[in-house]
Amino acid sequence: MSIYFDPQTLQFQLNTRTSSYIMQVRNGFLLHLYWGARLQNGDHSYFFREQGRAAFSPRMENGGGFILDDVPLEYPCWGRGDLRTPALEVRNPDGSNIVDLRYESHEILPGKPRIPGLPAVYVENDGECETLVVRLRDGVSGVEADLYYCVLEEYDVLTRYARIRNGGTDAVRLLRAMSASVDFDHTRYDILSNYGTHCRERQIERHPLQHGRFTISSRRGASSHVHNPFLLLASPTADETSGEVYASVLVYSGSFAAEAAGGQFDAARAMIGLNPEEFSWKLEPGEDFFTPESVLTYSGEGLGYLSRTLHHLFRTRLCRGKYRDARRPVLLNLWEACYFNFDEEKIKRIADSCAELGVELLVIDDAWFGERNSDNSSLGDWYVNRKKLPHGLEGVEEYLKPLGLDLGIWFEPEMISPNSDLYRAHPDWCLHVDGRPRSEGRNQLILDLCRPEVRDYLYDCVSAVLKDGRIKYVKWDYNRNMTEVGSPTLPADRQGEVTHRYYLGLYELLERLVGDYPDVLFESCSGGGGRFDAGMLYYMPQVWTSDNSDAIERLRIQYGTSLVYPLSAMSAHVSASPNHQTGHVTPFETRVCVALTGSFGFELDPTALSDAEREQVRQVAALHKELGEVLATGDYYRLRNPFEETCSAWCTVSADRSVCVAGYVLTHVRMYGNNERIALRGLKPDALYRERFTGETYRGDELMGFGLHAPTTLEYRSILWVLEEVSD
Ligand code: DGJ
Repeated sequence: MSIYFDPQTLQFQLNTRTSSYIMQVRNGFLLHLYWGARLQNGDHSYFFREQGRAAFSPRMENGGGFILDDVPLEYPCWGRGDLRTPALEVRNPDGSNIVDLRYESHEILPGKPRIPGLPAVYVENDGECETLVVRLRDGVSGVEADLYYCVLEEYDVLTRYARIRNGGTDAVRLLRAMSASVDFDHTRYDILSNYGTHCRERQIERHPLQHGRFTISSRRGASSHVHNPFLLLASPTADETSGEVYASVLVYSGSFAAEAAGGQFDAARAMIGLNPEEFSWKLEPGEDFFTPESVLTYSGEGLGYLSRTLHHLFRTRLCRGKYRDARRPVLLNLWEACYFNFDEEKIKRIADSCAELGVELLVIDDAWFGERNSDNSSLGDWYVNRKKLPHGLEGVEEYLKPLGLDLGIWFEPEMISPNSDLYRAHPDWCLHVDGRPRSEGRNQLILDLCRPEVRDYLYDCVSAVLKDGRIKYVKWDYNRNMTEVGSPTLPADRQGEVTHRYYLGLYELLERLVGDYPDVLFESCSGGGGRFDAGMLYYMPQVWTSDNSDAIERLRIQYGTSLVYPLSAMSAHVSASPNHQTGHVTPFETRVCVALTGSFGFELDPTALSDAEREQVRQVAALHKELGEVLATGDYYRLRNPFEETCSAWCTVSADRSVCVAGYVLTHVRMYGNNERIALRGLKPDALYRERFTGETYRGDELMGFGLHAPTTLEYRSILWVLEEVSD
């Protein structure tokens, strides 16, 4: 039993393997009592401390209740005594925006309900989860909120979302409906978040939580390159191995907001959910609205434990399908090899060159369709360009088969080029607002996925390509953000629903496709990592991490991504040197070492490789086939921080701790620098490990206590260590 309810004290205690989350009903309000290290079940009522600090805030019920502004609330609402940022705000039929939610009832369910139309963490049997549903209700308006708390005890997480229902007699408008809100009784935390841009995604920023609101958000119609939909609060001294850290991660791909605010009594409130600036939603009587899910986890052992908890959950209970568990093929993507310039002959030359290298799948990227020779046309015209591929995709696939190569292709289904047959036939199928110009980004507009006929068209286009089973992999791209967000399918007073309805439409389309093509490996992409989020991972188990394929830049991007997302989700390719984005000249071994940290592949022209490099490719493809499972499913430890140090180092350890793959890259040479040694983590202290390339043996305690010597000269030099347990 993960959920314990005490009817005497009206306390709910939710226990995960190492944490407890405790709430109590008092005066009809659902109060937050505690979130932290696991406690024994019992009466924790004394945690609640009412200090009577009014400071201009009213006391409820004219003196008979709380000073609501000074109590920790589970789902704070706007309009009565709590003047902090609310989780819920509505516009009532009378024009007021008061919601006053009080406890009505609760139930405890085995398993985890599905959230209609939205991606979410799932369980494989009811024993993996228990769910608490607390019903709150506004007695005046009839608005109800069912707060869902799904406790996956063994996974060490709980998830939260809300179902808002209009139980009144007239329509209400939701102005703000967050997925989760947590009140903390002090502000002594650092906030950690990701920030970035195209080609420099998910950098890490850490700073103290202060008085005032700190928000990261996206109003771009995508989770975006700029911020990522999660928030971490960490004790100021927390590092990789120690300290308290709290995470909330949103399972959603569209516009979002995550906020942490220090308040007047030096308490803090953190919340995450749909971006209220982007959103309003009309609820007719009897209708309900589900917020996206947020995943909450606590670590008392620093950032490393927190990341491993999330990695394990996302890899095994968010990602789905055949490739959740199966080893992903070693692929070679043609984008950086050809860009828009290829034809069947060129693909055949590249395929010939791939044969015997150990590459398993060849991906034709952009420009195989319509009249597309640059980024200025044809999105929407998803039929093969016979001038380039006279024998179609089937001709290519038949050529590849005897070479031992599968075929994958690129799509950008959500977009439409104004210069396309589709646009000429359906100029109103894109998001737009009548009377205003349609702003193009990368010469393209965004299709209106609120429209069922658009979703059906896209399903048919993608299906037509996939249905003969020749295509084994799809890269699903999305290359601009939203502007002029309007849909003529909705009346004026529902235009605030467009972005969220777009995502409900996208999720419906993806659900159909991944359901109907379970053997296809789908990879999400948005100019690299512009939609690297838990929402997309529900449909596609890997994401093209960044359009920046430079190994040195990737050290930071992948390190930042690993705070929340598993390595198996990060596509990482060995690209050419000098790198096409940065011009860095990097040794082949270093590019391999960094790419092995993710879902592995190549992004280069194999016909341009020297014989020596071909041999290296062969060796690394073989190595990946052997170690791919450990790399994808092992426990990941960040050992050196490329944001703060002149090197980066990490290791991945198999579940049984018998194999460890460790990497080190020197990013900046300091003359006569320190002796550098890399202490590993996660090994068995008593076991003996042999390093595969040198044959040296070490004890686990030596490897973790002292570590391995690492080079301090030659910039961008790297070492890959493979340590395997051997008997004494
Ligand atoms: C953006 C992607 O991130 C690239 O990898 C490539 O697929 C291009 N789009 C193609 O247009």
